[in-house]
Amino acid sequence: MPAIVVLGAQWGDEGKGKATDLLATTDPIDYVVRTSGGHNAGHTIVVNGEKYATHLLPSGILTPGATSVIAGGVVVSPEALFRELDGLIARGVEVADLKVSANAHVIASYHATIDKVTERFLGKNQIGTTGRGIGPAYADKINRVGVRIADLFDEKILTQKVEAALDVRNHLLTKVYNRRAIEVDAVVEELLSYADRLRPMVCDTSLLLNKALDADQTVLFEGAQATMLDVDHGTYPFVTSSNPVAGGVCVGAGIGPTRIDRVVGVIKAYTTRVGSGPFPTELFDEDGVQLQQLGGEIGVSTGRTRRCGWYDAVVARYASRVNGLTELFLTKLDILGAWEQIPVCVAYEIDGQRVEEMPMTQTEFHHATPVYEYFEGWQSDISGCRSFDELPKNAQAYVQALEEMSGAPIWGVGVGPGREQTVVVHG
Ligand code: IMP
Repeated sequence: MPAIVVLGAQWGDEGKGKATDLLATTDPIDYVVRTSGGHNAGHTIVVNGEKYATHLLPSGILTPGATSVIAGGVVVSPEALFRELDGLIARGVEVADLKVSANAHVIASYHATIDKVTERFLGKNQIGTTGRGIGPAYADKINRVGVRIADLFDEKILTQKVEAALDVRNHLLTKVYNRRAIEVDAVVEELLSYADRLRPMVCDTSLLLNKALDADQTVLFEGAQATMLDVDHGTYPFVTSSNPVAGGVCVGAGIGPTRIDRVVGVIKAYTTRVGSGPFPTELFDEDGVQLQQLGGEIGVSTGRTRRCGWYDAVVARYASRVNGLTELFLTKLDILGAWEQIPVCVAYEIDGQRVEEMPMTQTEFHHATPVYEYFEGWQSDISGCRSFDELPKNAQAYVQALEEMSGAPIWGVGVGPGREQTVVVHG
């Protein structure tokens, strides 16, 4: 299977790395590619009992033999990139080959500054961003005042571009936000300091990946953020500033849609969200606290506690539809072993009406309350199960019920954090 997309089907943090791990057991992966977002993502990878967190680097960075690619749709903070690489090297990790697109936009320190002041200015309407400068970097890209990785190799061009970017920004910072102006020279100097180390990594990643696909190599497009955080298809405005949906992979990587063979949506057996925005199945009671504690639901990137709730099949069906999912990978099923009964949201009630599909408007979604169906729990530890038949009958029934209501077959299930703790449902 040459081109596989793995993406988040909820609001992020679904455990996408687990699906990648399972894929790698059957097909050696030649390329692992990030196509959107930046160091706002948080992947936790457990290798030989050791926990590693990556934010910008593709998880393939820990896979010997695989080339990691940061494609053109990603916004790259060179500072974060090298901090992450050096962090892994310091722990004795053998870091895999890394390629960075010349077209990727740069996150400079001023983007993070603007991200934070904008959030503060929004007050109670704030998005709850990661404060990493993701939104301002994408805004500069769309406003055509962005700096790209290739610009770091030409001081004259770089200076012109930083000047253009800061021209309006500095007016905003000083006159609206009452902050000090950012100095062009300091920004240019910092960005130039990364150029030498970056140069050997930089290439035309679209060409690289298309050639790899022509040669029938296996390319894994590793999603960051998730469907419900997509700027077009998520819960706007409480979203990130890129397109984590499957369509975004083509744009971000420079490959055509006809090249993609599988689109795997990773989905938790319950739901979590960080940051602000609507979340119909959110729990404010003991169950929510228990999901948070048992699931270790704390953000990898920001250390924020994640909001927790039950599985939402309306969201699952929506994710199946907008991404054209060929399959789902269900994670963290083991966490639900503590409950006698497990509620699943099968539809919403909006102003007295039962609604089966994602509501069309933001207002309706804010008014949606979950309609629950209740499933018998299995109340046991399933983390040692390695096949579907080994799962308790009630856990099997839960997985089968979710499959029927979620719009795509469930290919695999995660039963623990370790790489091997997976169960294949449909081989
Ligand atoms: P931004 O991407 O930093 O602009 O944040 C926008 C929204 O997306 C906020 O609610 C963040 O918490 C959320 N977000 C961004 N990246 C991730 C992620 O990798 N997992 C979960 N939520 C994320």
